[in-house]
Amino acid sequence: MLATQGLYFQYQDQPVLRDISLDFAQYPVTGLVGANGCGKSTLFMNLCGLLRPQQGRVVWQGRPLDYSKQGLIALRRQVTTVFQDPDQQLFYTDIDSDIAFSLRNLGVPEPEIARRLAQAIELVDAGAFRQQPIQFLSHGQKKRVAIAGALVMQADYLLLDEPTAGLDPAGRRQMMEIIRRIARQGKRVVISSHDIDLIYEVCDGVHVLRHGAVLASGTPQEVFSQQRMLEQAGLVQPWLVKLHALAGLPLYRSEQELYAHFGRSHQEVS
Ligand SMILES: Nc1ncnc2c1ncn2[C@@H]1O[C@H](COP(=O)(O)OP(=O)(O)OP(=O)(O)O)[C@@H](O)[C@H]1O
Ligand SMILES: [Mg+2]
Repeated sequence: MLATQGLYFQYQDQPVLRDISLDFAQYPVTGLVGANGCGKSTLFMNLCGLLRPQQGRVVWQGRPLDYSKQGLIALRRQVTTVFQDPDQQLFYTDIDSDIAFSLRNLGVPEPEIARRLAQAIELVDAGAFRQQPIQFLSHGQKKRVAIAGALVMQADYLLLDEPTAGLDPAGRRQMMEIIRRIARQGKRVVISSHDIDLIYEVCDGVHVLRHGAVLASGTPQEVFSQQRMLEQAGLVQPWLVKLHALAGLPLYRSEQELYAHFGRSHQEVS
């Protein structure tokens, strides 16, 4: 189980996270939303042990996180993070080596690495640029490589910081599918995103952050029906929630459900 208890973090003298107590095992897919600078990425870096809180703690498997080298290695076998900026985690010049890096570190046999690599490349649709040097890839292509590097780990927790930023509509849809598929395998996914519609559709629980504190928590329906609270947090309602409020349509959870209401399939409409 991955959680925080009364976590407080500051950079130099600037407080960023205040009294954060969240349980990331509570929902299969947890969403973190909030305006720029509210502390989402900083929270992710605390969760994977890159940053250490000054007060409170990260709790991993029922115990305070062990920040020794071994403790962090054990954590990162089961908690994989895709950072907001793909350049932060791509080190090699060729894609295959980069994606396989962590597996080689863990001593996974080469045939197994090749199998997982092929699967991940297909999942993120990176086959077309697999042979290109990483430095020549676009931001969205790099993002796909970084995500593939996380997927091969098959960890219990996948932390995705802005997973669809820089992805085209097809990439975004693939990302939603990947998140759902991982959740169906019984794993936990935590996503931070400004893509409110994505958060609404794929998350089972949502936490709203404002100035580094939790402003609201609950199911997507509960959280996104609170318009005043969302305004305070600098957020807007998902379009399906607006449609519900404006047109009196039922509160659908996904585009597919809405299209089904009109007897149309997703393929017909998009
Ligand atoms: N390395 C750093 N040193 C000092 N301050 C930092 C550092 N990184 C982030 N900050 C500050 O911490 C606050 C939180 O930043 P953070 O990147 O966690 O926000 P965020 O919610 O992820 O924002 P965004 O939506 O833009 O990704 C911001 O005020 C930012 O300026
Ligand atoms: Mg961020």
